[in-house]
Amino acid sequence: MSTDLPLVPRELRPLDGRFGCGPSRIRADQMEVLGTPLLMGTSHRQAPVRSVVRSVREGLASLFDLPQGWAVVLGNGGTTAFWAVATACLVDKRAAHASFGEFGHKFVTETTTAPFLLPPVVVEAPPGEVALLTGDEGDADDLPAPDVFAHPHHETSTGAVSPVRRLGGEGALTLVDATSIAGGAPVDVSQTDAYYFAPQKCFGSEGGLWVALLSPAAQDRARHLHTAPDRWVPQFLDLSIAMDNSSKDQTLNTPAVATLALMERQLAWMLDCGGLDAMAARSRAASDLIYRWAESSDVASPFVANPSWRSPVVVTVDFSTQVDAARLARALRASGIVDVEPYRKLGRNQLRIATFPSTPTSDVEALLASIDWLLPRI
Ligand SMILES: Cc1ncc(COP(=O)(O)O)c(C=O)c1O
Repeated sequence: MSTDLPLVPRELRPLDGRFGCGPSRIRADQMEVLGTPLLMGTSHRQAPVRSVVRSVREGLASLFDLPQGWAVVLGNGGTTAFWAVATACLVDKRAAHASFGEFGHKFVTETTTAPFLLPPVVVEAPPGEVALLTGDEGDADDLPAPDVFAHPHHETSTGAVSPVRRLGGEGALTLVDATSIAGGAPVDVSQTDAYYFAPQKCFGSEGGLWVALLSPAAQDRARHLHTAPDRWVPQFLDLSIAMDNSSKDQTLNTPAVATLALMERQLAWMLDCGGLDAMAARSRAASDLIYRWAESSDVASPFVANPSWRSPVVVTVDFSTQVDAARLARALRASGIVDVEPYRKLGRNQLRIATFPSTPTSDVEALLASIDWLLPRI
């Protein structure tokens, strides 16, 4: 295909040009697992696939140092489905949310429209900032105190990362959406009751699955709401049913076997490389390169102004009006460097670059060299 865009010389380009925020790069070693005899194309109710599920659950328990009594629960539908699951099976009467970007807001929409819940309390912050819950939300109004406090660990749309800590009084649950940061940053999951995610980011797998690390209190809440007389929960969204199936190393309905197999291989790699701290260090080193580059640039700057909120796994870089970032992204794409466009609804003159653990610093250095080469030429 001919193009009027300058092409980055091959010797400058990264070895792997995938920098997208999900689906994200899948390491070659992971892809090999798909050739395992009698795995792909076999029953998810039989030993090979159920062994993969068991290994995923054990690998996650080890990676996150799961406390006694916690459960690793899986289901189909990705994180979007889990928001519906949580709305139906974890929120008793009322939720409080921190919303500071596209994904935090989507969970708010679920609890706002659920006819069996009271209106949620919502604390918001503009894109690029972090909204922080105190745990006292709702104290000032006449409605019951929230029984769920929910926030994203990380906003993929903006590259802003939140602290994770337990919120609310006795009996309240803390639910944390870690879709794009689980496996790429340190976390003490015991500060939460549900630390949930999907595997198409740090775990370098395919989409379509949700995974939730659930505290005993979250499991109790799910069991309780399963039998609540005033709530109809479709089987597909019933967390109790998912918990029962997960304990047998299966999902309620047919999963994508490739997603599970790719995730298992990534978890083994993560644990072999030193576990969560080692993964966090990889992502931090890769993202720091970009933040330092942007800070020293005349035409670029980190979008997230507060350094303590800057994500180690999704770096958003704003460009001055001298640079057409959309054209820059097109030129990178023409050179085989893909998916660095900003989040579509943010509408900024920006690049968004994922530095999940699978991305080595050498590829980030080559990406920055490619951008430096293009800037005077586009
Ligand atoms: C933070 C966050 N939450 C939720 C989602 C939705 O995940 P899924 O596509 O698996 O439903 C995404 C997707 O990118 C995300 O980044």
